[in-house]
Amino acid sequence: MSSSTSARSEGRQPILSLRKVSKNFGAVAALTDIDLDVYPGEVVALVGDNGAGKSTLIKTLAGAHSPTSGTILFEGKEVVMEGPSAALDLGIATVFQDLALCENLDVVANIFLGQEKTPWHMDETEMEVTSWTLLNELAARIPSVRDVVASLSGGQRQTVAIARSLLSNPKIIMLDEPTAALGVAQTAEVLNLVERVKAKGLGVIMISHNMQDVRAIADRVVVLRLGKNNGVFAADASNEELIGAITGATDNAVSRRAKRLAEADKKVEELQ
Ligand SMILES: Nc1ncnc2c1ncn2[C@@H]1O[C@H](COP(=O)(O)OP(=O)(O)OP(=O)(O)O)[C@@H](O)[C@H]1O
Ligand SMILES: [Mg+2]
Repeated sequence: MSSSTSARSEGRQPILSLRKVSKNFGAVAALTDIDLDVYPGEVVALVGDNGAGKSTLIKTLAGAHSPTSGTILFEGKEVVMEGPSAALDLGIATVFQDLALCENLDVVANIFLGQEKTPWHMDETEMEVTSWTLLNELAARIPSVRDVVASLSGGQRQTVAIARSLLSNPKIIMLDEPTAALGVAQTAEVLNLVERVKAKGLGVIMISHNMQDVRAIADRVVVLRLGKNNGVFAADASNEELIGAITGATDNAVSRRAKRLAEADKKVEELQ
């Protein structure tokens, strides 16, 4: 049983709920009537084609856009987020795709970057210890917290960005394509890290175009298509089902290819 199913069957309250959330940019309906629940300790993958509305949804939840209509509930209470710091204060942290790290600063400085609002006035040693503790909790592989970000790999940078987002003790973190630019080993490392964040009891919303990553880590897969919710799937949904929902057609070149590959796999299995 997936943890999301158990979370729901135990009657636990979702951390975050969206009810009929829509966002228009002038005549463009980027999101229409989106419903979504995120429970503690579950990973919700957000998938969809280019322009489906994934980033708009994340930005709306991050307080960067205000919804045109609909309701956002945080721990059961309706909230209106006036901006990114309001979302962060509530406990919604975001790692945007560009990561926004400073190349010429070290890991500690990057983790504390933009956290001037925090009440702690830490000295360098305390900041270093806190950085180590955060990274150790994530079992992150960073050679030294005094390394400058410019010397880190793509996976290590993603790790630093995730560690930074955890500094404010959020209840939800949202990741926009955390594995997009990564090789196989680094992808595995980042997915492990997401597992650890989930194990801490946070809700995770992860945008990904990689169905393998999605299947490896998600408790639920939410498909957006043309700004609308086009299905919610369990992580064991077939490639064909997912691609069908993403493209809006169960029978197109991409899904036919996925089906052929699945059939070929099955034949190989039968022969073994
Ligand atoms: N600030 C904006 N102003 C006007 N239109 C926008 C704005 N942001 C997004 N859109 C439009 O909203 C729709 C959804 O875009 P969005 O960036 O959310 O898609 P996406 O699913 O993240 O796509 P991708 O996979 O390419 O990142 C698109 O039609 C896009 O052109
Ligand atoms: Mg996007």
